[in-house]
Amino acid sequence: MSSVSLPGMSQITLQFVGGTRVTTAANDVAQAVGRIAGRSKAPAPPRPPSSSEAHATRSRKARDSTAAGAAGQGANGMGRTRQQKGALRVLVSAADMLRTARREGFAIGAFNVNNLEFLRAIVEAAQAERAPVILQVSEGAAAYMGFAESAAMCRAAAEAAKVPCALHLDHGSSLAAAVRCIRAGYSSVMIDSSKRPLDENIRVTRSVLEVAHAVDVSVEAEIGRIGGTEDDLTVSEREATLAVPAEVERFYAEAPVDALAVAIGSAHGHYRGVPKLDFERLRAIRDRVDVPLVLHGGSGIPDEAVRTAIGLGIAKVNVNTENQEAFAAELRKLLAEDPDVYDPRKILARPRDAAREMVRTKMRLFGASGKA
Ligand code: 13P
Repeated sequence: MSSVSLPGMSQITLQFVGGTRVTTAANDVAQAVGRIAGRSKAPAPPRPPSSSEAHATRSRKARDSTAAGAAGQGANGMGRTRQQKGALRVLVSAADMLRTARREGFAIGAFNVNNLEFLRAIVEAAQAERAPVILQVSEGAAAYMGFAESAAMCRAAAEAAKVPCALHLDHGSSLAAAVRCIRAGYSSVMIDSSKRPLDENIRVTRSVLEVAHAVDVSVEAEIGRIGGTEDDLTVSEREATLAVPAEVERFYAEAPVDALAVAIGSAHGHYRGVPKLDFERLRAIRDRVDVPLVLHGGSGIPDEAVRTAIGLGIAKVNVNTENQEAFAAELRKLLAEDPDVYDPRKILARPRDAAREMVRTKMRLFGASGKA
């Protein structure tokens, strides 16, 4: 077990639970130590279980709810841990998922959680598709939902899910924001310093890497500037800049992140016209750095272009706007059909299902279905 002090918190501790490394805030350690001390054998070294082992473990756990410790499960190297009553956060590292996806030529869908309905829609879609998934929360969405509430809600949903789920901070603006999410149990954080000069982007990213990797939380960064609007931030066409392959190589050499978002012509939100991704640039980047690449602004890109991008090293595709549109369209329809409805559970169920179907469509497009 090893530990590290972080700004604003006492300690984060690494430990092995059921053969899989997980992280926990210091407050949880006392409980954990008590449970682990109760075991007869020392935990095994980490090894991703095979699919059949995973299933055997799952059914054994279902039978034996009093077993001490937590059991690893998952397939294709995407091991996850199952938590016991009152145990620690046990989400999957996004790094493991993304490396597997890159190696096998598919992409993990990263879908934005805007509220409880989106959370349910995404997790239900992942289970229906048997797809590993990244639940991502922007700082704006966390503020909207309440930071603690959103973290608790996402953790609970991810821990109960039957497929590997990572919980990821989308477009973190600072080290402080990343640390806050790590404390709250996120398994992955993005630090977006792409608006800063390259040296500064590297410096800030390294500071997040140092903290996050010490506690086995994965890190995504961004290079080049992706246009469009995300939360309150709008990057105009004039400000958007495409990633320069030589700079990407230097960035990754100095800040070896787990995932790198590269600006290749996509944008957040709606496109005016059909977006044109710069595949030559993507190919040049892929040839220079061996890291899972991330496509932001995944809504509205033609399917064929998405497939081509995945073939060129994109291992994570971020989607928000199309899910929001599916939700909003169904909501409008429902309210028009029944102007007297007032129970939010009746109002929001159909829009939630529409968002779920959109997420499922994206998972199939990304080749992630059946990979959990
Ligand atoms: P869209 O809203 O364009 O799908 O982009 C989502 C995104 O990239 C989140 O980081």
